[in-house]
This record gives sequence, C-alpha cells and structure tokens, in this order.
Amino acid sequence: MIRNSSMWRLLLLIIAIAGIAAFAFAAQVEKDTYMAGFHQANGVSCVDCHEKNFVMDDSETVVNKKCVECHGSMSDMAKVTAKDELNPHKSHLGEINCSTCHKGHEQSKAYCNNCHTFKMDIKFDSDKKAEFADSADVVVVGAGGAGYVAAISAADAGAKVILLDRMPITGGNSSLAAGGINAAETSVQKKQGIKDDKEAMVEETIKGGRYLNDVQLVKTMVYNSAAAIDWLISIGADMSDIVRSGGVDYDRTHRPVGGGAVGTHLISVYKANAIKKGIDVRVNSDVVKIIKNDKGAVVGVQVKGKHSGLYTIKAKAVVVAAGGFAASDELVAKYKPQFKNTPSSNQPGATGGGIKILEDAGAEMIDMGFIQIHPTMGGDTKVLISETVRGSGAILVNQEGKRFVNELTTRDKATAAILKQTGAKAYLIFGEEVRKANKQVNGYIHLNLVESASNLKDLAKKIDVPADVMADTVAKYNSYYTKKADPEFSRQDMPRPIKEAQYYAIMVKPGRHHTMGGARINTNSQVINLTADVIPGLFAAGEVTGGVQGGNRLGGNAITDTVVFGRIAGANAASYAASVK
Ligand code: SIN
Repeated sequence: MIRNSSMWRLLLLIIAIAGIAAFAFAAQVEKDTYMAGFHQANGVSCVDCHEKNFVMDDSETVVNKKCVECHGSMSDMAKVTAKDELNPHKSHLGEINCSTCHKGHEQSKAYCNNCHTFKMDIKFDSDKKAEFADSADVVVVGAGGAGYVAAISAADAGAKVILLDRMPITGGNSSLAAGGINAAETSVQKKQGIKDDKEAMVEETIKGGRYLNDVQLVKTMVYNSAAAIDWLISIGADMSDIVRSGGVDYDRTHRPVGGGAVGTHLISVYKANAIKKGIDVRVNSDVVKIIKNDKGAVVGVQVKGKHSGLYTIKAKAVVVAAGGFAASDELVAKYKPQFKNTPSSNQPGATGGGIKILEDAGAEMIDMGFIQIHPTMGGDTKVLISETVRGSGAILVNQEGKRFVNELTTRDKATAAILKQTGAKAYLIFGEEVRKANKQVNGYIHLNLVESASNLKDLAKKIDVPADVMADTVAKYNSYYTKKADPEFSRQDMPRPIKEAQYYAIMVKPGRHHTMGGARINTNSQVINLTADVIPGLFAAGEVTGGVQGGNRLGGNAITDTVVFGRIAGANAASYAASVK
C-alpha cells in the first residue's frame, strides 16, 4: 500500500514536471514569434489579458482596456515612439484599439498597410516568424475522406504525419456521403456474380463529365478502383452491398450492408485507423499558407489554431485534401453566379480554404465554373436524399402525379428536368421494398422528410397530387418493371416495383452539391503550377482538385476519387519526404 502510494506520488511528480516543461516550451515558442508568448515569458499570464474566464470581449469600449492599463493611451505611446521615423501612435486616424495592429496569437500587422506600404518595424510582425514550432514528414490539410486516406497511406509508408482540419470535427463532406463508392471489376462484384467492365466505367465517367475530364486522371481512378475496395475492406470497412447510381449501365456503387450510408461508416473506419497508426489529428486548425523555400519546394505550412494561435509546421511534403467550395456563397457567386442562391448540401467548412492556399502556392486552377447541382435535396432542407434511393427503385413524379424523366440519368439532366416542373420540385415515390433495401431511408423518416401512407391514394392526398394520376403512373411503372422495359423514359434499371405498403413520398428540390474544379494534378497526385511544372513536395487529392470529374460528376465517383487519389497522394508524399534531406 505504502509502496503503491509513493509510486503514485512519483508518477504525479513526473506528470507535473512534464506539464511545466511543455508549458515552458510552448511559451518559448510563442515568445520568439507572437506577442502572447512574449508576455507570458515576461510574467504576464493569460488571465491578466483575458478577463471573464478567457472569453475576450469584442465590445469596442472594452477590447484593449488591459493594454492601456499597462502601456498607457495612444498619445502616451506616441511619446514613447516619438523618435521613430514613422510614429503611427501619433498619426493614427482617431482613437483605435491596440489590437487593430498588435495581435496576441498571430502575426502583428500595421492596419494602415492594408492600403499603404509604410516601411514600419512592428514587433511580432511575422515575416520574421518562420521559426517552425513543430515538424512532420507529411502534413495533410483537411481531414475528410481524401485527407484521412492520404494520412493513413503516408503513415503506412513510414512517414510521421500530422493531419489538420479547420473544423471542430473531422470527416468533411465525406461524413455526409450517403450513396456509395463506384468501382469496377471488384472482388465483391465477382463474389456476387455482378458483371462489370473497367473500360465502361472510364467511358461512362467521361460521358457523364460531358467529355471535359482529364482522361489520364479518369483512367487512374478507374484502374485503381477495385484495389481501393480491397484496401477499404482490409482496414475494416464493409463494402458488401452493391447498387446502381445514375448515368451508368452497371451495378458498381459499393456500400455497407443493407444500404447504410457510406460516409459515416468510412469516416469511423478511418478515424480508428488513424488512432491505431499514431497519426496526430488536429481539429480547429486552419492552414492559412503553404510555405515554400527559395527553390519553390514546399517546406511547411502556417496554421491558425483556434486555441493555439498562429504557428508553423515544418514538413517535407504537404498533401492538400481540403475539399471543395459548394458551401461558399462568395466563391459560387464568383465562379457560377447563377447558382449563388441555390442551397448547398455541403458541410459548413466546404468553403474553398484548400483552393485558396493552393492558388497562393502557385497551383493552376482548372474547371472552376463546373458546379454540380444534385437533383434531390430533401424538401427545403440541406439534407441530401441519396441517388441510391432512386438506384434501388424509387421514381420521381411531379406535382401533377406524372413521371417526367429517366430517374437514373445523370445529375445535370435530372436537375434540369426537375427545375422545369411546377414549383421547381418533385416527389420521390417508393414502397416498402425500397425502404427495406436502404437503411438510410429510416434516417430521412427520423428527420421528418418523409410522408407515408398504407395506400397510394392517401399518400397522394398528403402531398397534394391527383390520386388517380399517381395511381396510374405507379401502375404503369410496375408494368415496365415486369417487362424490364420503360418505353416512356428508357430507364434501364428497375430493380424493384412499387407494390408493397407502406408507401412513401419525399419532396425534393435541387441543391449545390459538388465543385468539379480545383488544382490541376497529374496521375501521381502532384500539384501542377501555371508553367505546367510540378510544385516540389506538394500533392492534392479529392474535391480540391480539378480534372477527374470533368463538367459533371457521376454519383458514387466522389468517394472513389478520395480513396484512389488519397492513397496515391499519401504514398507519394511519404516517398518524396523520405528523399528530402
Ligand atoms: C448521393 O448518394 O446521391 C450522393 C453521393 C454522391 O454525390 O456521389
């Protein structure tokens, strides 16, 4: 017992010493770079500036009270700096707050230099601050699907990896991906007797992309897709259910058993693997700059941590996998003004942060005006109703109760058709057969997006559609299902009829879903600059890149993109890092 308690005391002492050392180290790092660290190192503690339990008050009358208490007013400071060549404390326009120029946790910057270029030596201005606070072989920017895959692949190749995400949770848009992952000639398809053809997947992806894709990138994605499925299974994913997505003639969209949403499943598998492999995953960490040396090679990133402030990480290679910009009204207005007011299915962080840092680093941006509108967002919400609901048998009817399009055409065509209908909306109609094949429908029911009834007449009443017309539409569709031919809209795949109660309806409207444009990459996932050269040490994968999906992406090809190019980017970044001295 005595022995145990003295061991405990020893352990506590070690923890305390380690804590003090870590704090002292952090303070030292900031002392060299930022004002907060400097203050701390000189005996001014956090609470001396941050009143109210660390919550900073943005009220204009309160914000710099503490600075003034210690340093005096602007006119007091003007006397102190009177001998300087420029005396901004004197020449400022009116009474301004100290933190307008002097920042605690990020680089200080003279506010007037936003418009002017006064040569002013402002302390803690950070072009001098490039001391690296941290280091890794590979830094991955963005912890969505592509980022996690790149990080895991780089770690598997022996690299020390730091994975950063600007949001408070990881997962990105991938965590919302409802459908599945397309792959051709996979072990799972073979086991289930499903025929497929890689060349058909290449052709369908390019046709779906309106012949605007980078063909070599498409081939790389497709030829590596079967291996991607095996890799996912090898790290613990369930890819056992296969369905069809729009614009293709083959069942190749892989997803978890029972038609569960692919995204949440994959992200939880990735997270478990990242933990197992010791990857340092940081949230609230916005990468604001890719740092290059004078030869143009990437040497690190500058990160703005919500709690840790601005700091730099030295890295031999950087993979940017920070997603697209469908959630940014500003960028959508810039590249496709007509979609400015369309709602977005994307997570709130999909605002093009990765696009910006790649552009700043000299990457060539391509296809930026290609923004995909997904035909079926649920009602007036941001919830996407997966294409796989149509893929497993639902039909689309308009307010008049009639079908108006091949439900499994490409997204651009389905969207255009819905926008022509009364109220620019439509209803997904299906029976119990489809619900049973799609676990995710239970989620839509939970979110109150679904009307249901025990017969079609009552369902029609609930959605204000003429009951006799809808009954006729469904009867016709069921006869096409039996004959395996749709003379009205040439729908190829009709896997289930609409015969079994309950019957369901979901009101749908189109919404911004995917941005096809981004940084140009080559088949090694290396980022290409404006003179068509590789930027040494810089890799990218997923929606932040352009070229793979062309002018329109097929459903299920986004996750393929993230897994295939995430793996390529991660492995190549690790091997590049190993070659750097
Ligand atoms: C969907 O299931 O419709 C969305 C998935 C995707 O965009 O591929």
